[in-house]
Amino acid sequence: MADEASDGVEIEQIRALAERLARQAGAIQRERYEGELDIRTKSASIDLVTDVDHACETLIVDTLGRERPRDGVLAEEGGGDDHPDATWRWIVDPLDGTTNYAHGYPRFCVSIGVERERVGTVGVVYDPMLDEMFCAVRGRGATLNGRPLRVSAEDDMTHAMVATGFAYDVHRSEDDNINHFAAMVKAARAIRRDGAAALDLCYVAAGRFDGFWELKLHPWDVAAGIIIVEEAGGRTSDFSGAESCRTGRETVASNGWLHDAMLEILRH
Ligand code: IPD
Ligand code: CA
Ligand code: CA
Repeated sequence: MADEASDGVEIEQIRALAERLARQAGAIQRERYEGELDIRTKSASIDLVTDVDHACETLIVDTLGRERPRDGVLAEEGGGDDHPDATWRWIVDPLDGTTNYAHGYPRFCVSIGVERERVGTVGVVYDPMLDEMFCAVRGRGATLNGRPLRVSAEDDMTHAMVATGFAYDVHRSEDDNINHFAAMVKAARAIRRDGAAALDLCYVAAGRFDGFWELKLHPWDVAAGIIIVEEAGGRTSDFSGAESCRTGRETVASNGWLHDAMLEILRH
């Protein structure tokens, strides 16, 4: 009993810290939005990183190093010290939606997922432009600015609005998601490609989207969003439907009702 109680206290401390870090990094994004940026490329000419990505990551990683020195940290820009055997592991996308950010398109976020013994336990995604804080703790539900979140009840694909994205190797890879996009355009009411996968997942949790899929994402894109979708009553999986999507390699998220229909479309 005492253990359970102290467990609850630690999870709550971790949730509060994740929210604080997301707000602080989000404040940097808001302050520097539409200002001068140092923009570089990574894996491809369309894969951008800015000094704001690095500033946000440094803030998060340095604070975790001070306040949670025993925890592992996997952070997209490589600043974290990941020790996979750690009990607690933070999976951080300091700025999801970098291309949007670099173009002055106001759709980006900070995404922080926390695993306990490899199980996704806390997820926080913060949109600084709309001041929207999405948050979930495994087994305790998901919230948006403190209000409970619930996926949509839509069960008809022809009434569904779904979202997707394209990986940075889209110019050179044949596994480019365009076949899936074409099939989904013909099946759903509407498709959006909005450029921030972590927010796309939260929008499924909020019932704004009925489903989302993407190929070749990474753990930091999905770690928080998976927990938020599941705690809002939705379902997540790989394209087979049988495995988790925590690697991001194949990601499908839905309100649950449309999951099998989406998998069927994505199989072709
Ligand atoms: C990207 C965004 C985008 C998705 C890409 C991701 P980044 O993350 O989430 O929506 O389509 O696949 O890599 O690079 O902006 O953190
Ligand atoms: Ca990302
Ligand atoms: Ca990023």
